[in-house]
Amino acid sequence: MTVIVIPIMPIIDRLFSIQPLRKAIWKLWYPFLTRRLRKDDVLFLNYAFETEPPMVLQLSPEDELNRPSIQLYHHVATQAVLKGKKVLEVSCGHGGGASYLSRTLHPASYTGLDLNGTGVRFCQKRHARAGLTFLQGDAERLPFPSGAFGAVINVEASHCYPDFPQFLREVERVLQPGGTFLYADFRFRDGFDAWERDLADAPLSLFSQSDISADVLRGMDLNSARSLDLIHRTLPSFLQGLGRDFAGVEGSRLYEGLKSGEVSYRSFCFTKMS
Ligand SMILES: C[S@@+](CC[C@H](N)C(=O)[O-])C[C@H]1O[C@@H](n2cnc3c(N)ncnc32)[C@H](O)[C@@H]1O
Repeated sequence: MTVIVIPIMPIIDRLFSIQPLRKAIWKLWYPFLTRRLRKDDVLFLNYAFETEPPMVLQLSPEDELNRPSIQLYHHVATQAVLKGKKVLEVSCGHGGGASYLSRTLHPASYTGLDLNGTGVRFCQKRHARAGLTFLQGDAERLPFPSGAFGAVINVEASHCYPDFPQFLREVERVLQPGGTFLYADFRFRDGFDAWERDLADAPLSLFSQSDISADVLRGMDLNSARSLDLIHRTLPSFLQGLGRDFAGVEGSRLYEGLKSGEVSYRSFCFTKMS
């Protein structure tokens, strides 16, 4: 029998290099993932975070399973005070971060937005609580009036946006004067210059930034066994290589890239000038 092996990563890389296709691919991929993962109650889609020595974060028993991914949210969101603020999270995924932050940091309200309508419907059912709302929308065209929020959060999603500067302009528009933008994501080396230039040109002032690549690598190690189990159980075999790459387990391009410096994961706090 002849086995035809399709080299899926080069095909995907080629498709991603065609800008207009990017959003269309994510629009298909994330709802597909939600349908596969919702049975397992997967609430986070990020690479996670752990410090050395380990963070000491008191969590409820229900949150313990998601500790590594919660720690990434905690790190990003506690760069500013959210208590009493109207918070928007752009690209909330399956809402685990929105639920955790709205329960523990006491914002006045918390709105989670994502392009993935299937994910948003999952969030609406799974995280029903007062003051927490979810809606479908595009990071590059935020469906809110100017000055509607005191803080905007964005975790590990901006690499998906075809027009990152347009997203930054939208963040500035929906923030109140003095509001904060709490942000974390990664880029491959060939994207470092554009990333830094776009952030420097953004209509926001940089308050602080850090390279958290080593912390994210430790987070990936903590999540690895669970990610591999999910990949084996939920993805057809021809997509498992893609799943491992996407989940960032040891040997994946992201994991090895973070180790070698080919990938950089950074967190930032910006403010909108008053
Ligand atoms: C890696 S996941 C991270 C999700 C979540 N922040 C977390 O940490 O669990 C990236 C998310 O970005 C969303 N996304 C991609 N493109 C988007 C866009 N143009 N507008 C809004 N969300 C988008 C995806 O649907 C997905 O939920």
